[in-house]
Amino acid sequence: LSKLVVAIDGPAGAGKSTVAKAVAQRLGLSYLDTGAMYRALALKAQRSGLGPDDGEAAASLGEASNIDFGQGDPQPVLLDGEDVTSQIRTMEIGELASALSAHTPVRRVLVKRQKELVQAGGVTLEGRDATTVIAPDADVKIYLTASLEERARRRHKELIVRGQQADYEEIKRLISERDHRDMNRADSPLRVAEGACVVETDGLSADEAVTRILELCESLKGSG
Ligand code: C5P
Repeated sequence: LSKLVVAIDGPAGAGKSTVAKAVAQRLGLSYLDTGAMYRALALKAQRSGLGPDDGEAAASLGEASNIDFGQGDPQPVLLDGEDVTSQIRTMEIGELASALSAHTPVRRVLVKRQKELVQAGGVTLEGRDATTVIAPDADVKIYLTASLEERARRRHKELIVRGQQADYEEIKRLISERDHRDMNRADSPLRVAEGACVVETDGLSADEAVTRILELCESLKGSG
């Protein structure tokens, strides 16, 4: 089995999950959705009555919780053994995850686990700090992005397909705020890592984005 590590970062709605999953499948790698870990912790925080400013308390909750992944598509996300896969895919949990992820104690707890999961290699991981913090030495580093409008359209469609309420303008506003928060936080802001390839996906299908990344994997693998 390949020990390759492919790390993908990018803003909300850039298509990271779709693309990372497909790349993992094509290359026989496991798939690590680091955002799902922030979301699962946010769900637990919400259930405990915590808010966006309760970083210390959320980090303690994180220490005491088990966040795991099962097998399948969509990949099951398990919070202390409970399947929370669909519960964590709401805008509300995304917002709380984003707010909590700005707190250093929260990041410390989850990054430590993520590094352990990546250590053995053979993984495609995606998030906001996959290329900068979790796996800066990844064999292939990608910054996947698209215009705000395109990303809002994708999120909108995703929510509608899941049968959730969704308003395009509201989603666009929330994504733009989330971008701002993710890119401007003091701890591990979202940015293009040194040595990362920027892949713009406006006008690219998911398949085309995957093909481009697989080509990059071919050309970059082993080139140092
Ligand atoms: O990618 P996803 O939308 O599921 O992530 C939810 C939030 O978790 C992001 O907006 C971001 O603030 C945070 N996150 C992070 N670092 C990661 C993955 C996600 O800060 N590696």
